[in-house]
Amino acid sequence: MKSLGADVVVDYKKEDFEKVLQDYDVVLNSLGKETLEKSLAVLKPGGKLISISGPPDPEFARQSGLGWPLQKVMRLLSFGIRRKSKRRGISYSFLFMTANGGQLAKITALIEAGEIRPVVDQVFPFEKTNEALAYVETGRARGKVVVTVK
Ligand SMILES: NC(=O)c1ccc[n+]([C@@H]2O[C@H](COP(=O)([O-])OP(=O)(O)OC[C@H]3O[C@@H](n4cnc5c(N)ncnc54)[C@H](OP(=O)(O)O)[C@@H]3O)[C@@H](O)[C@H]2O)c1
Repeated sequence: MKSLGADVVVDYKKEDFEKVLQDYDVVLNSLGKETLEKSLAVLKPGGKLISISGPPDPEFARQSGLGWPLQKVMRLLSFGIRRKSKRRGISYSFLFMTANGGQLAKITALIEAGEIRPVVDQVFPFEKTNEALAYVETGRARGKVVVTVK
């Protein structure tokens, strides 16, 4: 993790990150409700809590063009974390990755400048896509698993 540029590395099996870290601007959460709520403790007022593992928020529903019943459902699903965030002056948002050429172009520039170093675990030819997916499902891949298409 340090070789990838992390300043502080917390082993979640030995330490509680919310006790070690504080006053951060942004948390990008990819775990469940418990970790999402603990993340509030490491953010400073004005900070951003962004989650890719839910719960979806009403803004996401609006941006996705979903009708009002689903907007309402997402308002309810994220009510608790939005309320807890607001109390601390933190903004909560759900992020769902979509194909976006403009963003990829910006990321390409960062990779070419050496600011982002992609970590590739294994590369499979297209004919071995099933093996690639089985490998991803083991949950032990470190970095990207790539399928090459000629
Ligand atoms: N919104 C979107 O567009 C989007 C896109 C992709 C994925 N997702 C979501 O993001 C979530 C994560 O996806 P994933 O593919 O990374 O899942 P994953 O393959 O299950 O990986 C989970 C990782 O979290 C680590 N972990 C488990 N408990 C932890 C803890 N308490 N503290 C810190 N790390 C912990 C695990 O570490 P170990 O290796 O030690 O077990 C593992 O490396 C899923 O809910 C997925 O649905 C959303």
